[in-house]
Amino acid sequence: MVMAMASSSQKVLLLDLASNINHVPTNYIRPISDRPNLDQVDSIDDSIPLIDLHSLTRSNDVVQQIGQACKEYGFFQVKNHGIPDEVITNMMQISREFFRMPQSERMKSYSDDPSKTTRLSTSFNVNTEKIKWFNIYFRCRDNAADYCRHVRQVALTLLELISESLGLERDYINRALGKHGQHMALNYYPPCPQPELTYGLPSHADPNVITILLQDDVPGLQVLNNDKWLAVNPIPRTFIVNIGDQIQVLSNDRYKSVLHRAVVNCYTERISIPTFYCPSPEAVIAPASELIDEDHPCQYRSFTYSEYYQKFWNRGLATETCLDLFRSSPRV
Ligand code: OGA
Ligand code: NI
Repeated sequence: MVMAMASSSQKVLLLDLASNINHVPTNYIRPISDRPNLDQVDSIDDSIPLIDLHSLTRSNDVVQQIGQACKEYGFFQVKNHGIPDEVITNMMQISREFFRMPQSERMKSYSDDPSKTTRLSTSFNVNTEKIKWFNIYFRCRDNAADYCRHVRQVALTLLELISESLGLERDYINRALGKHGQHMALNYYPPCPQPELTYGLPSHADPNVITILLQDDVPGLQVLNNDKWLAVNPIPRTFIVNIGDQIQVLSNDRYKSVLHRAVVNCYTERISIPTFYCPSPEAVIAPASELIDEDHPCQYRSFTYSEYYQKFWNRGLATETCLDLFRSSPRV
């Protein structure tokens, strides 16, 4: 299913793409210069580091692996994360059921206001985009509470490991975030008759701290590495973790919040469930003073997360990173 917007009235139409059309509607077609070029994507599936969290007892090793992954890829996968299989299966099931609900039921959740905590939408910010994307998402909080609690534990562990890998106190990032925020999205990518003309989700970096992604067994996520797109093939029971913009700032550019995107395919639907771990809106974010020295001058001015988030949404999903709007003035 995909939504098309009637822009004047913001009225929403739902088209059943899978059964009714065999062409991508024109407002979903990207210009030739901005298409996925699927034949140029590398699909070596061991390209993104896989980290075994079970070996936490050999903690130095894990810290070192995470540091390396954050530096080189901004992305890694985790296994033996401690989230029981049934919690994961249940979360996937909840999502599938939601997207199988009759259209009229689902549309009761529709909103294009990004500040709403529970909403159904499509594209990124329908108010700032001309070209739509091929997905539907449902961002929610408080639903699937059991899953959320477990993911929070994994996030807290990862933040400790990331802090340590930067040579900071174990609880440095935890404290820097103030009261933590956690948002979850359910992404639904329908089969698409012409996947080479559009995106499920165009290239972007995540504005938050870290993102922990659960996906079904259909590939679609791609990560930019050394100017090449790498396809990340799903491994059952693992999560994909990526560093968001706030870690790039806290780390004073040691770690990179990298561009990623989701592509669609003509055969199967795909569901992915990202959890966006965030600072509190009032938290003041700045590079850690321990990571500033003569060789590493301070790269960013300080800002509140709410200021950052507002700028992020208002500019739409531009390819150039939102981080550049917060850089310190270049030193003379
Ligand atoms: C996101 C995202 C990737 C995916 O929602 O920010 O990057 O595979 N999703 O759905
Ligand atoms: Ni993302």
